[in-house]
Amino acid sequence: MGSFLYLLLCVLFFLSFLQIISPSSHRSCLHDQSSALLQFKHSFSINKSASEDSTYPKAESWKPHTDCCSWDGVTCDIVNGHVIGLDLSNSWLYGSIHSNTTLFHLRHLQRLSLAYNHFNYSPIPYGFHLLTSLTHLNLSSSAFSGQIPLEILGLTKLVSLDLSWNHNLLKLENLSWSHKLLKLEKPSFRTLVQRLTNLRKLHLAYVNISSIVPDFLADFSSLTSLDLRYCQLYGIFPKSIFLHPNLQSLRVSENLNLTLYLPDFHSGSSLRILDLSRTNFSGELPASINKLKLLNSLYLKACNFSGSISSSIGPIPSSVTGLSNLITLSLHGNSLSGAIPRSISKLVNLEHLYLSSNNFSGTVELDEFFKLKNLTYLHLSDNSLSLITTVHINSSFPKFIQLGLSSCNISKFPDFLRNQNELQSLDISNNKIHGQIPKWMWNVGKETLDYMNLSHNFLQGLEEPPAILPWGSLQYLDLHSNQLQGPLPIPSISTSFFSISNNKLTGKIPRLICKASSLEILDLSNNNLSGLIPQCLGDFSKSISVLKLRNNRFHGPIPQKISNGSSLRTLDINNNQLKGHVPRSLVNCKRLEVLDLGNNQLNDTFPFWLESLPKLQVLDLRMNKFHGPVGCPRTNCAFSKLRIVDLSRNEFTGDFPSTYFLHWSAMMMSDENKSQFKYMGDTYYQDSVTVMNKGREMVYEKILTIFTTIDFSYNRFQGEIPESIGNLRSLLRLNFSGNNFAGSIPSSLGNLTMLESLDLSHNKLSGEIPQQLTTLTFLAVLILSGNNLIGPIPRGKQFDTFLNTSYEGNSGLCGFPLLRKCGDTEVVQNPTSLFHQDQDSEATSEEFDWKIVLMGYGCGVIIGVVIGHTIFWRQNGWLRRIMSTKLSKWEGQMSKKKGNNRKRR
Ligand SMILES: *[C@@H]1O[C@H](CO)[C@@H](O)[C@H](O)[C@H]1NC(C)=O
Ligand SMILES: *[C@@H]1O[C@H](CO)[C@@H](O)[C@H](O)[C@H]1NC(C)=O
Ligand SMILES: *[C@@H]1O[C@H](CO)[C@@H](O)[C@H](O)[C@H]1NC(C)=O
Ligand SMILES: *[C@@H]1O[C@H](CO)[C@@H](O)[C@H](O)[C@H]1NC(C)=O
Ligand SMILES: *[C@@H]1O[C@H](CO)[C@@H](O)[C@H](O)[C@H]1NC(C)=O
Ligand SMILES: *[C@@H]1O[C@H](CO)[C@@H](O)[C@H](O)[C@H]1NC(C)=O
Ligand SMILES: *[C@@H]1O[C@H](CO)[C@@H](O)[C@H](O)[C@H]1NC(C)=O
Ligand SMILES: *[C@@H]1O[C@H](CO)[C@@H](O)[C@H](O)[C@H]1NC(C)=O
Repeated sequence: MGSFLYLLLCVLFFLSFLQIISPSSHRSCLHDQSSALLQFKHSFSINKSASEDSTYPKAESWKPHTDCCSWDGVTCDIVNGHVIGLDLSNSWLYGSIHSNTTLFHLRHLQRLSLAYNHFNYSPIPYGFHLLTSLTHLNLSSSAFSGQIPLEILGLTKLVSLDLSWNHNLLKLENLSWSHKLLKLEKPSFRTLVQRLTNLRKLHLAYVNISSIVPDFLADFSSLTSLDLRYCQLYGIFPKSIFLHPNLQSLRVSENLNLTLYLPDFHSGSSLRILDLSRTNFSGELPASINKLKLLNSLYLKACNFSGSISSSIGPIPSSVTGLSNLITLSLHGNSLSGAIPRSISKLVNLEHLYLSSNNFSGTVELDEFFKLKNLTYLHLSDNSLSLITTVHINSSFPKFIQLGLSSCNISKFPDFLRNQNELQSLDISNNKIHGQIPKWMWNVGKETLDYMNLSHNFLQGLEEPPAILPWGSLQYLDLHSNQLQGPLPIPSISTSFFSISNNKLTGKIPRLICKASSLEILDLSNNNLSGLIPQCLGDFSKSISVLKLRNNRFHGPIPQKISNGSSLRTLDINNNQLKGHVPRSLVNCKRLEVLDLGNNQLNDTFPFWLESLPKLQVLDLRMNKFHGPVGCPRTNCAFSKLRIVDLSRNEFTGDFPSTYFLHWSAMMMSDENKSQFKYMGDTYYQDSVTVMNKGREMVYEKILTIFTTIDFSYNRFQGEIPESIGNLRSLLRLNFSGNNFAGSIPSSLGNLTMLESLDLSHNKLSGEIPQQLTTLTFLAVLILSGNNLIGPIPRGKQFDTFLNTSYEGNSGLCGFPLLRKCGDTEVVQNPTSLFHQDQDSEATSEEFDWKIVLMGYGCGVIIGVVIGHTIFWRQNGWLRRIMSTKLSKWEGQMSKKKGNNRKRR
């Protein structure tokens, strides 16, 4: 028995001895470490939307009384059980980190990653100096904000620091992040790189650095990866950094004020990734770039490069093979010219090629690109190229994912598309493709296509069209500005954007449209469609936000039932033959901004109840059979957001109470608040700023938000023009012509200092022209003809530029520009200029033109012209008159160019 006990003791002793000397991986977790980890975990909530898709909450599996060294994401020192590694990247953590966090109890940590969580824009906590062993710190994409704390600079052992992308680009917020960036001011970037001299990887993309790049960064002998994208750097980037022998990845793109000079590259460079897009760069691409033998990604987007690429990337075959590791080549948006060298087909590993938006010219045989078997992204849009293909269909092609071939002078539907069953995005807009969309297209990218743009071609129809278009994943379908005939094709249920405006479609809207319930934007404008508007378009207004049916031949009533919670933002049914009432259910459309019912046969009273729509900015009822007074029973008629209102050519009657315009606050804003040019809908879609979803840019309806106009012309209004009109200080155009307004011209009009055009013609106005109008320094158009005005015409400023036609038919007026001098008793009238009114004449320069304002989505160019035009007017007072006659011609030209604006790069 004794010997047995002895033996047992020996065995126990031996076992514990083993445990001490052997570096067993079973050294279990220390109690304080495991409780620190658990407390850290419990200081957050678990929120799926904090991390990327297809991730899982690692800390979920952590349980008390288990060995923390075996927990997901935790690494321990095998000798002493200290936690030395913690990887909680993509772990759905949501909430702030405070400086008392138990994370800092893990004193032996060497590697820490909290990347891809959401720390709710809390600052990076103080206390990092406690983690003196840290070599790797990764706080990327985690929604930290504020100044980077000084303590981080105490971590002198750091070899890898990643604080990049700390504006959360994931799903929680929209993109109003710019004020929530991490900052590197105090300490500065300079101090940081002075202290952390062991760094090999430094990733600070999206940290607001706002400084120069210190020269001595080039002395970091071990630097392998530097990412300073979107850091608001300026000054001159130290050229010697490019020549660093160990540097593998250099990304400094999106620093518009950072000046870069490329050095003469040496062979022996380790560079694999070079990203200099959108920096301040000019000159030619140096030929020595061919010496970067290991380069696989070259991003030189929008760098102002000019010259040809043949001299550097493809002259001599040997130097081309020099870059034969290239996988990505992005030269989008430069000024490169000349031909695209055939030798580009020697870059056999290319997967992504972006040559769009340059000045490349000449004929390109697509077959050259087909030799690149790995090519999946090919973008050649917007050059002066002519694309041709000669290959037979049975050749083997690369399987493309994205094809951008807009404006490539393509004249027939490209045959090679037949085999493309992995295509996600196809842009062949702005070409010269005639004929029908061939029926084999119904199988192209049937499951994969999500973007297709065939707009601005000469397509005439669809060959054997299926009842519903087949592409099951298609979200964006643009067929506008073709010559499509026949019935309206119906997009698949996945489609949210569908435009087929500016075609020659006929017939009714098929009832099947009711199945396309994802539609957010539906534009059928400018066709020959007829019949009734299906009720379901009103029913699924929960998803639909833009519905444009203008310039067709629809008749019958507007769908009366519009559901509660509607997303409708724009309803444009101008110029049809619609009858009946304005649907009262529009009152449910709390997001409505644009209501354009003009040029129909609606017979209703003034829809004063629209006053309750908090966002209504544009109201057009022009040329209908509206009648009665325009007042609001019981309320102030506070159309507080209204900026553009056209009630002209109806049968409205009555006078305006003196308080009428007092609450139209959008038209009262002073000039300063409007200094930025914005378009309506800019913020509505979150597509514009940095989330380049697969390199795509969607453009939607744009209306300049500073445009303000009132057109009440050709009704039967009467009484005096209320003085309160003088409150609408940001008004640009006012037209009260063709009514029965009496009394004198209110002198408060002199307060409308932005006014460019004033038409009060054909009323019964009497008295003198108020002297105050001479203060309107932007007034380019004044029409007072056909009234009973008397006395001297004011002199000075704009009044010296108006012609006598402005005053015709007022027998009591005198002075320049009329022949009749003031004080004369004899009336001198030039018989040829006697006023002659033609009710239908559109010739007065001040018929407000809706075409300018509502050009449809993608009208940036037109609006650009209008802005430019306005500014031009303001700077060149007396030239204005000439310009106004030109504007209408421009419109014609610009509308042809519209498409250029809309293209995806
Ligand atoms: C997850 O995040 C969303 C968005 O910030 C928030 O609305 C939600 O309440 C969060 N859920 C939890 C459980 O914290
Ligand atoms: C840490 O600090 C925060 C904020 O000051 C406080 O709400 C929290 O209770 C503290 N936690 C601990 C464990 O002391
Ligand atoms: C930081 O973590 C993210 C997510 O795991 C990773 O993609 C990134 O490469 C890491 N950064 C560095 C410098 O290793
Ligand atoms: C986007 O964020 C801004 C500011 O936080 C907010 O006012 C706006 O309503 C948000 N828009 C959407 C569509 O969530
Ligand atoms: C570039 O510099 C100009 C002039 O100093 C400044 O107005 C602008 O904000 C800077 N842009 C960026 C992105 O830093
Ligand atoms: C193309 O891609 C494949 C798979 O990624 C790779 O093995 C091959 O080396 C690449 N290059 C060429 C020229 O096929
Ligand atoms: C408008 O409708 C009313 C009846 O609701 C009718 O009396 C009137 O004639 C109509 N007006 C026009 C111009 O059609
Ligand atoms: C016009 O402006 C003057 C001076 O600012 C002011 O006294 C007057 O009340 C204004 N009139 C109206 C109608 O706004």
